[in-house]
Amino acid sequence: MLLASKPIADGGSISATIQVPFLDLQPQFAAIRAEILSSVERVLESQHFILGSEVKALEADVARLVECQFAIGCASGSDALLLALMALEIGPGDEVITTPFTFVATAGSIARLGARPVFVDINPDDFNLDPQKIEKALTPRTRAILPVHLFGRPAEMGAILQIAGRSDLAVIEDAAQSIGARWRPPACLALPWEQNQVSIRTGGYQQPA
Ligand SMILES: Cc1ncc(COP(=O)(O)O)c(C=O)c1O
Repeated sequence: MLLASKPIADGGSISATIQVPFLDLQPQFAAIRAEILSSVERVLESQHFILGSEVKALEADVARLVECQFAIGCASGSDALLLALMALEIGPGDEVITTPFTFVATAGSIARLGARPVFVDINPDDFNLDPQKIEKALTPRTRAILPVHLFGRPAEMGAILQIAGRSDLAVIEDAAQSIGARWRPPACLALPWEQNQVSIRTGGYQQPA
Protein backbone atom coordinates (compact mmCIF):
# COMPACT_ATOMS: atom_id res chain seq x y z
CA MET A 1 0.00 0.00 0.00
CA LEU A 2 1.38 3.41 -0.95
CA LEU A 3 0.18 6.78 0.30
CA ALA A 4 0.68 9.35 -2.45
CA SER A 5 0.44 13.04 -1.56
CA LYS A 6 0.16 15.92 -4.06
CA PRO A 7 0.40 19.66 -3.17
CA ILE A 8 -2.49 21.82 -4.42
CA ALA A 9 -2.76 25.56 -5.24
CA ASP A 10 -4.07 26.79 -1.85
CA GLY A 11 -1.07 25.32 -0.02
CA GLY A 12 -2.85 22.15 1.13
CA SER A 13 -2.46 18.69 -0.33
CA ILE A 14 -4.55 15.78 -1.49
CA SER A 15 -3.56 12.21 -0.82
CA ALA A 16 -4.62 8.82 -2.10
CA THR A 17 -3.96 5.26 -1.12
CA ILE A 18 -2.82 3.02 -3.96
CA GLN A 19 -2.57 -0.76 -3.76
CA VAL A 20 0.77 -1.87 -5.24
CA PRO A 21 0.86 -5.67 -5.59
CA PHE A 22 4.15 -7.27 -4.52
CA LEU A 23 4.03 -9.53 -7.56
CA ASP A 24 1.45 -9.35 -10.34
CA LEU A 25 1.44 -12.45 -12.52
CA GLN A 26 -1.88 -11.67 -14.27
CA PRO A 27 -0.33 -9.82 -17.28
CA GLN A 28 2.09 -12.71 -17.84
CA PHE A 29 -0.76 -15.23 -17.71
CA ALA A 30 -2.90 -13.10 -20.05
CA ALA A 31 -0.19 -13.26 -22.71
CA ILE A 32 -0.14 -17.08 -22.75
CA ARG A 33 -3.68 -17.81 -21.53
CA ALA A 34 -4.89 -19.71 -24.62
CA GLU A 35 -1.74 -21.83 -24.77
CA ILE A 36 -2.00 -22.80 -21.09
CA LEU A 37 -5.71 -23.61 -21.21
CA SER A 38 -5.37 -25.76 -24.32
CA SER A 39 -2.46 -27.66 -22.73
CA VAL A 40 -4.48 -28.29 -19.56
CA GLU A 41 -7.42 -29.44 -21.69
CA ARG A 42 -5.16 -31.80 -23.66
CA VAL A 43 -3.92 -33.43 -20.44
CA LEU A 44 -7.45 -33.74 -19.05
CA GLU A 45 -8.68 -35.27 -22.30
CA SER A 46 -5.82 -37.79 -22.29
CA GLN A 47 -6.49 -38.70 -18.61
CA HIS A 48 -2.77 -39.31 -18.36
CA PHE A 49 -1.77 -37.40 -15.23
CA ILE A 50 1.48 -39.05 -14.18
CA LEU A 51 4.56 -38.95 -16.43
CA GLY A 52 3.62 -39.96 -20.00
CA SER A 53 4.22 -38.13 -23.26
CA GLU A 54 3.39 -34.61 -21.98
CA VAL A 55 6.01 -34.81 -19.20
CA LYS A 56 8.54 -36.33 -21.59
CA ALA A 57 7.97 -33.47 -24.04
CA LEU A 58 8.25 -30.88 -21.25
CA GLU A 59 11.50 -32.42 -20.00
CA ALA A 60 12.95 -32.35 -23.52
CA ASP A 61 11.85 -28.72 -24.04
CA VAL A 62 13.29 -27.59 -20.70
CA ALA A 63 16.59 -29.41 -21.28
CA ARG A 64 16.88 -27.64 -24.64
CA LEU A 65 15.93 -24.28 -23.14
CA VAL A 66 18.49 -24.40 -20.33
CA GLU A 67 21.09 -26.19 -22.48
CA CYS A 68 21.30 -29.18 -20.14
CA GLN A 69 21.73 -32.83 -21.04
CA PHE A 70 18.77 -33.82 -18.85
CA ALA A 71 15.73 -32.22 -17.27
CA ILE A 72 13.61 -34.14 -14.79
CA GLY A 73 10.01 -33.13 -14.10
CA CYS A 74 9.07 -32.97 -10.39
CA ALA A 75 5.77 -32.44 -8.61
CA SER A 76 6.86 -28.98 -7.41
CA GLY A 77 9.78 -26.60 -7.05
CA SER A 78 10.03 -27.62 -3.39
CA ASP A 79 10.40 -31.28 -4.39
CA ALA A 80 13.04 -30.37 -6.97
CA LEU A 81 15.11 -28.61 -4.32
CA LEU A 82 14.65 -31.47 -1.89
CA LEU A 83 15.63 -34.09 -4.49
CA ALA A 84 18.72 -32.12 -5.49
CA LEU A 85 19.84 -31.88 -1.85
CA MET A 86 19.08 -35.57 -1.29
CA ALA A 87 21.10 -36.52 -4.38
CA LEU A 88 24.06 -34.81 -2.71
CA GLU A 89 23.32 -36.71 0.54
CA ILE A 90 23.02 -33.48 2.48
CA GLY A 91 21.65 -34.00 5.99
CA PRO A 92 22.16 -33.40 9.70
CA GLY A 93 25.46 -31.67 10.52
CA ASP A 94 25.73 -30.12 7.04
CA GLU A 95 25.43 -26.44 6.20
CA VAL A 96 24.10 -24.96 2.97
CA ILE A 97 24.67 -21.30 2.14
CA THR A 98 21.64 -19.54 0.76
CA THR A 99 19.78 -16.24 0.60
CA PRO A 100 17.23 -15.04 3.16
CA PHE A 101 15.30 -13.12 0.46
CA THR A 102 13.39 -15.87 -1.32
CA PHE A 103 10.32 -18.07 -1.06
CA VAL A 104 10.18 -20.15 2.13
CA ALA A 105 10.81 -23.42 0.24
CA THR A 106 14.46 -22.56 -0.42
CA ALA A 107 15.60 -22.64 3.20
CA GLY A 108 12.76 -25.01 4.10
CA SER A 109 14.09 -27.75 1.83
CA ILE A 110 17.48 -27.56 3.55
CA ALA A 111 15.89 -27.65 7.02
CA ARG A 112 13.60 -30.55 6.05
CA LEU A 113 16.69 -32.74 5.63
CA GLY A 114 18.03 -31.75 9.05
CA ALA A 115 20.78 -29.58 7.53
CA ARG A 116 21.32 -25.92 8.48
CA PRO A 117 20.53 -23.07 6.10
CA VAL A 118 23.23 -20.42 6.52
CA PHE A 119 21.94 -17.04 5.36
CA VAL A 120 24.25 -14.73 3.46
CA ASP A 121 22.92 -11.25 2.75
CA ILE A 122 21.76 -10.11 -0.67
CA ASN A 123 23.19 -7.56 -3.04
CA PRO A 124 20.65 -4.69 -3.01
CA ASP A 125 21.24 -4.10 -6.75
CA ASP A 126 19.83 -7.45 -7.88
CA PHE A 127 18.22 -8.83 -4.66
CA ASN A 128 20.32 -12.02 -4.99
CA LEU A 129 23.02 -13.70 -2.88
CA ASP A 130 26.02 -11.38 -2.59
CA PRO A 131 29.09 -13.41 -3.63
CA GLN A 132 31.38 -10.97 -1.75
CA LYS A 133 29.85 -12.17 1.53
CA ILE A 134 29.89 -15.92 0.89
CA GLU A 135 33.47 -16.73 1.83
CA LYS A 136 33.08 -15.34 5.38
CA ALA A 137 30.20 -17.77 5.94
CA LEU A 138 32.10 -20.91 4.89
CA THR A 139 32.88 -23.48 7.60
CA PRO A 140 34.19 -27.07 7.46
CA ARG A 141 30.52 -28.15 7.53
CA THR A 142 29.57 -26.21 4.37
CA ARG A 143 28.49 -28.66 1.65
CA ALA A 144 26.76 -26.51 -0.93
CA ILE A 145 25.75 -23.04 -2.08
CA LEU A 146 22.10 -22.56 -3.05
CA PRO A 147 21.66 -19.27 -4.92
CA VAL A 148 18.18 -18.16 -6.00
CA HIS A 149 17.56 -16.28 -9.23
CA LEU A 150 14.79 -14.09 -7.84
CA PHE A 151 12.17 -12.29 -9.94
CA GLY A 152 13.80 -13.59 -13.15
CA ARG A 153 17.11 -11.89 -12.28
CA PRO A 154 20.03 -14.30 -12.30
CA ALA A 155 22.46 -14.30 -9.37
CA GLU A 156 26.17 -13.61 -10.00
CA MET A 157 26.92 -17.17 -11.10
CA GLY A 158 30.48 -16.53 -12.29
CA ALA A 159 31.67 -15.46 -8.83
CA ILE A 160 29.54 -18.07 -7.04
CA LEU A 161 30.93 -20.93 -9.16
CA GLN A 162 34.48 -19.71 -8.59
CA ILE A 163 34.02 -19.78 -4.80
CA ALA A 164 32.36 -23.22 -5.03
CA GLY A 165 35.19 -24.52 -7.21
CA ARG A 166 37.88 -23.27 -4.80
CA SER A 167 36.15 -24.89 -1.81
CA ASP A 168 34.93 -28.05 -3.56
CA LEU A 169 31.25 -27.24 -2.93
CA ALA A 170 28.19 -28.25 -4.89
CA VAL A 171 25.96 -25.54 -6.37
CA ILE A 172 22.19 -25.94 -6.49
CA GLU A 173 20.46 -23.17 -8.40
CA ASP A 174 16.89 -22.36 -7.38
CA ALA A 175 15.53 -21.19 -10.73
CA ALA A 176 11.86 -21.53 -9.73
CA GLN A 177 11.28 -17.87 -10.61
CA SER A 178 13.62 -17.59 -13.56
CA ILE A 179 13.71 -20.67 -15.72
CA GLY A 180 15.38 -19.76 -19.01
CA ALA A 181 16.80 -16.45 -17.69
CA ARG A 182 20.29 -15.66 -18.90
CA TRP A 183 23.25 -14.15 -17.06
CA ARG A 184 25.45 -12.32 -19.56
CA PRO A 185 27.19 -14.74 -21.87
CA PRO A 186 27.52 -17.60 -20.99
CA ALA A 187 23.92 -18.31 -19.99
CA CYS A 188 23.30 -18.58 -16.25
CA LEU A 189 21.67 -21.94 -16.74
CA ALA A 190 24.33 -23.19 -19.09
CA LEU A 191 27.65 -22.49 -17.44
CA PRO A 192 30.61 -24.70 -18.31
CA TRP A 193 31.21 -27.42 -15.74
CA GLU A 194 34.34 -26.94 -13.71
CA GLN A 195 36.23 -30.03 -12.71
CA ASN A 196 34.67 -31.91 -9.80
CA GLN A 197 31.78 -29.49 -9.88
CA VAL A 198 28.31 -30.90 -9.54
CA SER A 199 25.59 -28.42 -10.27
CA ILE A 200 21.94 -29.20 -9.77
CA ARG A 201 19.21 -26.80 -10.76
CA THR A 202 15.57 -26.91 -9.82
CA GLY A 203 14.22 -27.97 -13.15
CA GLY A 204 17.30 -29.86 -14.24
CA TYR A 205 20.12 -32.10 -13.07
CA GLN A 206 23.44 -32.61 -14.74
CA GLN A 207 26.76 -34.05 -13.73
CA PRO A 208 30.03 -33.34 -15.52
CA ALA A 209 30.89 -35.94 -18.13
C1 LIG B 1 12.29 -19.06 -5.35
C2 LIG B 1 11.36 -20.20 -5.16
N1 LIG B 1 11.86 -21.41 -4.82
C3 LIG B 1 11.08 -22.49 -4.64
C4 LIG B 1 9.71 -22.40 -4.80
C5 LIG B 1 8.86 -23.61 -4.54
O1 LIG B 1 8.10 -23.99 -5.62
P1 LIG B 1 6.71 -24.79 -5.40
O2 LIG B 1 5.71 -23.79 -4.89
O3 LIG B 1 6.39 -25.31 -6.76
O4 LIG B 1 6.96 -25.88 -4.40
C6 LIG B 1 9.13 -21.17 -5.17
C7 LIG B 1 7.68 -21.04 -5.35
O5 LIG B 1 7.13 -19.96 -5.46
C8 LIG B 1 9.96 -20.05 -5.34
O6 LIG B 1 9.47 -18.85 -5.67
